[in-house]
Amino acid sequence: ADRLPYCDRSNSMGINLANDDALRELADRINAAYRDDWFAGPLVPGANPDGESRPVTNPADLREVVGHWRAADGATVEQALENAVAAQPKWNAMPAAGRAAILEHAADLLEQRMPEFIAMCTRDAGKTILDGVGEVREAVDFLRYYGAQVRTMFNPEPLPGPTGETNVLELHGRGVFVCISPWNFPLAIYIGQVAAALATGNAVIAKPAEQTNLVGYAATKLLHEAGVPEDVLQFLPGDGAIVGAALTRDPRVAGVAFTGSNDTAAAINRSLAGRDGALGVLIAETGGQNALIADSSALPEQLVKDAMASAFTSAGQRCSAARVLFVQEDIADKVIEMLAGAMAELKLGDPGLLSTDVGPVIDQDALENLEQHVMRMDIEATHIATVPATPEAEHGTFFAPRAYELRSLDQLHKEIFGPVLHVIRWKASELDQVIDAINATGFGLTLGIHSRIDETVERITRAIKVGNCYVNRNQIGAIVGVQPFGGQGLSGTGPKAGGPHYLARFVTEKTVTINT
Ligand code: NAD
Ligand code: ALA
Repeated sequence: ADRLPYCDRSNSMGINLANDDALRELADRINAAYRDDWFAGPLVPGANPDGESRPVTNPADLREVVGHWRAADGATVEQALENAVAAQPKWNAMPAAGRAAILEHAADLLEQRMPEFIAMCTRDAGKTILDGVGEVREAVDFLRYYGAQVRTMFNPEPLPGPTGETNVLELHGRGVFVCISPWNFPLAIYIGQVAAALATGNAVIAKPAEQTNLVGYAATKLLHEAGVPEDVLQFLPGDGAIVGAALTRDPRVAGVAFTGSNDTAAAINRSLAGRDGALGVLIAETGGQNALIADSSALPEQLVKDAMASAFTSAGQRCSAARVLFVQEDIADKVIEMLAGAMAELKLGDPGLLSTDVGPVIDQDALENLEQHVMRMDIEATHIATVPATPEAEHGTFFAPRAYELRSLDQLHKEIFGPVLHVIRWKASELDQVIDAINATGFGLTLGIHSRIDETVERITRAIKVGNCYVNRNQIGAIVGVQPFGGQGLSGTGPKAGGPHYLARFVTEKTVTINT
């Protein structure tokens, strides 16, 4: 990890995002990459998947079918498990540098094919173009970061020992790893989990989210093209409760890397615990109820800019997104007024247009959940602002970002996964209560702090129980190797993705002592 971040943020993949002409050219290349015949089906050698294919529609315009996918049936799941068990020893025996070279080659291919992958993220997941750029960058970073790590981690120095004896601590893949990913980062999280498991010598069965199979399928094909054998990485789309559950209850599975909701993490945990045979490892990254605390020393312009980015980027569909802004009462009126003004300027619409700030939410279920939440907020809270609707949004699952003022955090009962920001005022004497209330949610993913007072920043960062704390900036977009990402408590098991300790969970250790 001598060159971090791996993708230069100002001029990555030959595109300078600060340059309008270059951005427009990128948008043209993305539009040229749009197709309507994308397909995703199981990638399992020896299987003949059966069953109807289902249409994939564009969240920005549900009339548009962008491709089709087919779920894996029971026989295909069984074939995938058999293939993975048989293939893993050879992959594990390969020198780690060889596995790293394959992942690095995949990173090169991904950079070359950026427009096609952004096009898929836009059409399959409703991501804006800039979100799509972020997905590709993060995926490339994961491939290179984990590749670089295993080059050194799998070359341990001999341990000290008596003369005439050598002691070595070897690392090996655990066996078959199942990677289960969410729809909100269909490329970055999909590739991040898979790259970690492959780099460390595991055979992988990847189960993407039902909503974003097209991206996962294309990413798997790219990894095969880069040199990962087809039986070492298999793609198994399907409903979570059927295909995901069948995989996690199978004792041939040594570990599960999961990112998604708390309910699913709990179901997988129960499934692993209920199996006969070896204990399975679970790495779970789950939800958040993330807060931003601003005191009266905060700069209102910067605070509002960062709160907007944290709450509304990616239509608020980031586990890291800010959901609650605690603002000290001295500056609250001004901040609320500025927030309403800034929200009036946000552009909701077609994610394929560079002018769009906020695209659609992922599907009808997500839209209904958000609509139910704001119906309750309209009664129980004080409305601050709603982003203006646009005519082009009428055919997709669009939800206009909103802000409400609450009396207390108790008014939020669960994670609200979308672009709704809640504002709560606090008095100077109440900082400890604010910290306690945030900790009492049990979630512990991100926290933003806006303060120019060092003692306040220190007091909050010491007492708060979260995985990622951001001071005087936005609280989204953690960069691999720079801001290792992941939470505590209800937000996940750790270790942090894109951090120095992540890969250790994917390996078993073997100490070999030889008396010479
Ligand atoms: P989800 O839990 O519904 O689905 C995630 C994955 O689990 C999907 O692939 C799904 O098919 C699969 N699944 C569902 N039921 C299953 C079962 N019984 N057994 C095995 N697999 C099953 O989550 P989602 O709605 O796709 O994603 C949104 C959630 O993800 C939010 O809660 C968000 O906070 C969280 N998230 C967390 C992080 C993080 O790093 N902490 C990152 C992104 C998203
Ligand atoms: N890693 C993603 C972020 O930091 C979820 O926003």
